[in-house]
This record gives sequence, structure tokens and C-alpha cells, in this order.
Amino acid sequence: MLRLITLMAEERYNSVELEIFSWWTAPGEREGLDYLINSFQEEYPEIEVVNAAVEGGAGVNAKDVLKIRLLRNIPPDTFQVHAGAELKDTFIAGDYLRPITELWQEQGWQEVFPEELQEMVRERGEYYSLPVTVHRSNRLWYNKEMLAEYGLKPPQSPEELTAVVKILAEEGETPLALSSRNLWPITHLFETLLAAEASPDQYRALVRGERSWKSPEVERTLEIMQKLLAHVNEDHASLTWHEASEMVLQQEAVMTIMGTWTRGYFAARSAVQNEDYGSVVLAGNNPSFLLVVDTFAMPSATENQDFTRKWLEFISRREIQEKFTEVLGASPPRSDISHEDLSSGVREDYLDLLDQEILPSIVHGAAAREVFVNALNEELNVFLYENDITGTMEVLNQLAEIYLKPLRGRR
Ligand code: GAL
Repeated sequence: MLRLITLMAEERYNSVELEIFSWWTAPGEREGLDYLINSFQEEYPEIEVVNAAVEGGAGVNAKDVLKIRLLRNIPPDTFQVHAGAELKDTFIAGDYLRPITELWQEQGWQEVFPEELQEMVRERGEYYSLPVTVHRSNRLWYNKEMLAEYGLKPPQSPEELTAVVKILAEEGETPLALSSRNLWPITHLFETLLAAEASPDQYRALVRGERSWKSPEVERTLEIMQKLLAHVNEDHASLTWHEASEMVLQQEAVMTIMGTWTRGYFAARSAVQNEDYGSVVLAGNNPSFLLVVDTFAMPSATENQDFTRKWLEFISRREIQEKFTEVLGASPPRSDISHEDLSSGVREDYLDLLDQEILPSIVHGAAAREVFVNALNEELNVFLYENDITGTMEVLNQLAEIYLKPLRGRR
């Protein structure tokens, strides 16, 4: 038996495999990951890359599988994780990661990644992952032809949105495509509206647990949601985020609210911006940038550290990040990429990053620890069916009281 275990360990140690774990399986995401893997393979043909992606937007299912593997000490060689609270409060706090500070120093990454991003992957002086995308969550995507048909301008604030939704509903259209399969897209809608209704300081105070969730901006957000939810597609519970985006392409709905991965999805479906679809930031008077950052990390139990380092070094490269983020519809996290080299859609977000308020996304792991996000997902899906504004605010406030205070013994 012991011999067998030793053999298995040796086999793993001598393995030529690099297992890459992510949730990039939807159109757009898949093409982006394929680009990374194929170009890595060209440079390292001797390494066998295993694509261990698990289906499910925002990592809903992938994170469950990943946790089992980490707990049972059978980790992949590298995995996708959101920078910020998700990385820190789940994976660093749980001691599942190996710091990659040496690699950061050796590669000079401190000089090429903005300090805000570095801070999101650093804890007590050590770096734990490498940023590969900067996505924006607060965008509205619309079918150009349909809006034009009714002589409507794309709404850029919640107020304009409710007005446009009302008109389109009266015309017999489905104004807004919604998905609620996997729960998180409802929280996505909520945080986009909240960031538009709250001032940046209020939003930050809310996600830090320093402000009551029974505040007027939370109430206004739920009131707007109530108005919107009255006019969404009835089959939302069976749809994923990209199936809701597809409704816009198929003219089954006029608009949808989703992150910049919808840009990647549309590109994969050969839809052209400003022809087939348009996109605006949905934010209100002082547009903010709701930030989502994907990174890759190295589990502490990985045997194949050398391969993981090669992967991280490869995906940090300027030319790779530039091309890969374009396929995904995201901005490149490196700051040494010229905006002139980006496509017009991505460029708009890349430039906004430089001069707008940057606020961390809740639902995509930047702002708040996972236990809060999961509870918020559940509660907002209850709201979807029950429509109880006062009751929902009461529960959100309790959740914030319990889960948004700093963890004991840390920070
Ligand atoms: C986000 C992730 C994006 C994209 C999206 C939809 O959480 O950061 O890269 O994958 O989910 O799956």
C-alpha cells in the first residue's frame, strides 16, 4: 500500500501536466481561455495542459468543486480567483495559497500593475495571485435596431432606465432580459443600480459594514428593481447570463444589464458593436467603474510549482494580456498598454478606469467576503418573488451586521 502511495506521489511529482482550473466555459470566455492555453502550448509543447474548467458564470459551480479539491489536498496547479475579498477572506485566510511574492519581484510586476490592483492581491506584504483581466460590471447592452425603432436613446441612469422600460413594455416588447439561474445575476443587477443610487462614499461605507443597509439609497435601489422586475422575461429562472444576452441579439428583448464579458460573448457570436448592439455605462450623474478582477493563483499543495510559475509568467506578458482581454471583452490589467491598441469598446472602459471613481463589485468577489455574497444572492432572489422592500432591507441590514465587520484577529 505504502509502495502504491509512493508511486502515485512520484507519478504526480514527475507529471508533465499543468491543470488549469477556471469557470471560463461560456462563448467569449472559452475563446479567451483557449487563446491562453494554445499560445502557452506553442511555447511549452512538453507540458500537457489540462483545461479543468467548470461551467457556471461568476464561478458559482467552480468554487464548490475547487473547495472540495483544496480541502482534500488534490488541488489543480493553478486556479482562477477574484482579486479582493474573495481571494483574501476565503483562500488566503484558509491558508490554501502559496505566496508568489518572489515571482512578482523577479518579474518586476510591481512596476507594471497599478497599485490598486496590487493591493487587491497582496496580504501582509505577500502577493498571492496575478491579475489577468479588469472587467466592469455596470454596463447596459441593447439592441440598436429595436431602440431606434421606438426613437429611444439608451438609458444611462436608473431613472432613464425605468422610463424606457415602461415605454417598451407598453409597446409589447420585453424591455429587459434577465437571468436568475445560479442566483448571482440578480445581485449583479442590484449592485449596478446601487452604485448608481449611492454616492461613492456611501457605497464604500455600505460594503465595509460601516453604514446601515436600511439607508435611503438601498431603498431606492429596491424600488427601481421592483419596477424593472415587473417587465422582465418570465423564463429568467432557467436562463444563464449569456442566454439573457442572446435574447438581445435575437430581438427577444431590447436590453440587458451585465458585465463586460457580454462584449466577449457578443464578439464570439459575431455581433458587431454599434451595428448589432450598443452599450452604455449605467451609472447616473457621476459615473463610477464597478470593478471585477480575475486573477490566477498557486495552491499551497501544488507539486508542480515550476509549471505554475511558467503559466503565471506567460499570462502576465504584455502582448498576451492585450490579446486575451480583447477576446474576453475586458480591459488589460497592465498599465503599460497603449489605449490606441485597444478596440473602441474596450478602450472606453480602459480610459474610464483612469478618471472615474472605482468601486469594488460585491457579487464578483472584490468587495465582500463570500459568505455575505451568498446570503445576499439568496435574499435578493427571495425579493424577486416576494417584492417586499421593507422586509428585504431588514434582512440585508442583519446580513451586513453579521458578515461585513472585519474578521476577528485580522486587519
Ligand atoms: C465574473 C468573471 C468574469 C466572467 C463572468 C461571467 O465573475 O470575473 O471573468 O467570467 O464572471 O462568468
